[in-house]
Amino acid sequence: MTVHIGAKPGQIAETVLMPGDPYRAKWAAETFLEDAELVNDVRGMLGFTGTWRGHRVTIQGSGMGMPSLSIYANELIKDYGAQTLIRIGSAGGMQPQVKIRDLVIAMTSTTLSTPSKGIFREVNYAPCADFGLLRAAVAAAEARGSDPHVGGIYSSDVFYDERPDLNEQMTRHGILAVEMEAAELYTLAARYGRRALAILTISDHLQTGEALTSEDRERSFGEMVEIALEAAFA
Ligand code: ADE
Repeated sequence: MTVHIGAKPGQIAETVLMPGDPYRAKWAAETFLEDAELVNDVRGMLGFTGTWRGHRVTIQGSGMGMPSLSIYANELIKDYGAQTLIRIGSAGGMQPQVKIRDLVIAMTSTTLSTPSKGIFREVNYAPCADFGLLRAAVAAAEARGSDPHVGGIYSSDVFYDERPDLNEQMTRHGILAVEMEAAELYTLAARYGRRALAILTISDHLQTGEALTSEDRERSFGEMVEIALEAAFA
């Protein structure tokens, strides 16, 4: 047990999928895993371990924002030995060609600030995805007839951004989408020699103001879970 995860030693798999929402973790475990058992419910941040095609998998909620994800990813990596961590979540579109419901696979993520700022100080570290996982996720998405956007995203500190000029600069520099967690996941994976990837669905669009319904969110979430599982065990 750790401060934030109640699982016993051995109850967390080496492969961990991390949705922001703990209820999505429950839904994904019940829908895609066999013999899924609840391994964490500390603070309601649900985590489940089961098997997918014979492989052990944990699906653990990360909460929203880099400070929350950082707590869970640190403990999963350092205390439970997680080797492969894949974020599955939603993001806001920042380019006209990135449409609502589209899939974005993040090569790298830009930040204004991160929980790792204390380490890097004046350095602008560029967190990046594990290339093998990225390649496998693109292949899995394409095999399903999906055409994912692959490139840089922005991990913001705020959902309600009071600086529209910053978002404009991100768009101007080719950033595909904004979310709030991936940069810290990539940084921690690099620090501890693990594999990480973020697979995202566009749930809202900063330029058009469109937003997905909750039913659409569930459908697209299922697709991300399958792509993440296929990539993890490719
Ligand atoms: N996650 C989904 N949509 C988002 C947005 N517009 N900003 C930040 N995170 C998001």
